[in-house]
Amino acid sequence: PVPTPQWRPVYHFTAPQNWLNDPNGLIWINGVYHLYYQHNPFENKWGHMSWGHATSKDLLHWQHLPVAIPEIESKDTTTWIFSGSAVWDKHNSSGFGKNGKGPVVAIYTADQPKQQKESQFIAYSNDGGLTYTNYAANPVVDIHKKDFRDPSVIWLEDQQKWLMTVAVPAEHKVQFYSSVNLKDWKLLSEFGNQGDTRKIWECPSLTPLLVDGNPAKKKWLLMVSSGNRAAATGMQYFTGDFDGTTFTNDNPASAQLFVDEGKTFYAAIPYNHLPDNRHTMIGWLMPFETATHPWRGQMSIPRDLALKTTETGIRLFQQPAAILNAYLDKLPATKKWQQQNISLEGKELPLNNRQRFNTNTNWIDATFTLGTATDLGLKVAQHNDGSSVVIGYSNTRHQLYITAGKEVQQLDVMPVNNRIRLQVLFDKSSLEVFVNDGEKVLTTLVFPDKAATGFSAFAENGSAQLNSVKVWNLDK
Ligand code: FRU
Repeated sequence: PVPTPQWRPVYHFTAPQNWLNDPNGLIWINGVYHLYYQHNPFENKWGHMSWGHATSKDLLHWQHLPVAIPEIESKDTTTWIFSGSAVWDKHNSSGFGKNGKGPVVAIYTADQPKQQKESQFIAYSNDGGLTYTNYAANPVVDIHKKDFRDPSVIWLEDQQKWLMTVAVPAEHKVQFYSSVNLKDWKLLSEFGNQGDTRKIWECPSLTPLLVDGNPAKKKWLLMVSSGNRAAATGMQYFTGDFDGTTFTNDNPASAQLFVDEGKTFYAAIPYNHLPDNRHTMIGWLMPFETATHPWRGQMSIPRDLALKTTETGIRLFQQPAAILNAYLDKLPATKKWQQQNISLEGKELPLNNRQRFNTNTNWIDATFTLGTATDLGLKVAQHNDGSSVVIGYSNTRHQLYITAGKEVQQLDVMPVNNRIRLQVLFDKSSLEVFVNDGEKVLTTLVFPDKAATGFSAFAENGSAQLNSVKVWNLDK
């Protein structure tokens, strides 16, 4: 295969080489962000599933580490290490700790293809998450099914117990279990067959969040990877209450809410154990169509989660993690610029005003006030031949659209105070578009020609105002 360095993202995570899928065991310990991930250490395609590993202090620059949990081969059983989570067992409830220190415990799905079976295993680490020892009495949860996976475990402080959310994919449901020692688990309840049930359910997570930041208004966000309108894969979410046993959906069972409107964002899980009550998740950008070499699959930008009250109810808002701003602010003047109050009058305004921004590793934050223009927005990956990827807003259809070659993806968006804000994170082959402070997000993959590096703002058939535009170049 031909290497494709032109499409390897710079500020999104990829494995040094070979296949990557779901983020696993996201956990922050003592100032270090751990990122484990579904990985094939041997080939650039899915298989030999193991937990790859990397760490970071800023969620942008990653240090690659050896595989943390490898597949287990025995005489008649192959055990693949499927998705799951990691917790810091501070009080050593599991008894796996050493010298008075609590261990890191990974809770993952053991997939045993020869037995056609999935069950939940645990493994512990006493070296800060670098190496793990599998628990001798695994599995810890087994309901004798072929498909039963992706345990997400959190600590419930008020109840002093661990809570596991795990999927029964083919039955479109999740189960909740509790434990006091991470070894013995008790089934609490089930939730499912609501929302979007066209596809199997995978990679669930349950996160408590404050609505509008109000300490008196807590809601639970249940995210599930399954389908979405645009594609075979995607993520949906439910908001509701969790009383320690049962999750109750706020919305009618038929309501469908989506985390990301594109067809690549999948299997996202939140970080465990973050300080300052932060809630940040990372998702996998599932590779489709075009193959990349010698790596395949990348992670999304880390995203902060928030619930906000809107006219249609409580909705999930996402923003690129706020801690990334520290890095953007520190970039040298040659790598950032901004401008204000530009009238766009039926013409295209190049934004790559200096050639050094021609790297397709830009982060653009643009706010437009709508005028008479029917269409406005940004173009990236512009080529001399006139082709580009258009991130446009139709003021007649009230839709955001992304046009790349023959493909058009669109979603309904209403302006807020007559404005549209687009945060566009373009990184060689990934394009994440956050609309109106992250009320909606559309993520997609594009594979532009090496020479297609221009970008601009535009308004068509009338006028619009570009109130402010900021550009950061995150090239190395
Ligand atoms: C989601 C998924 C998970 C599973 C893992 C296997 O992409 O199918 O359900 O644990 O990938 O790699």
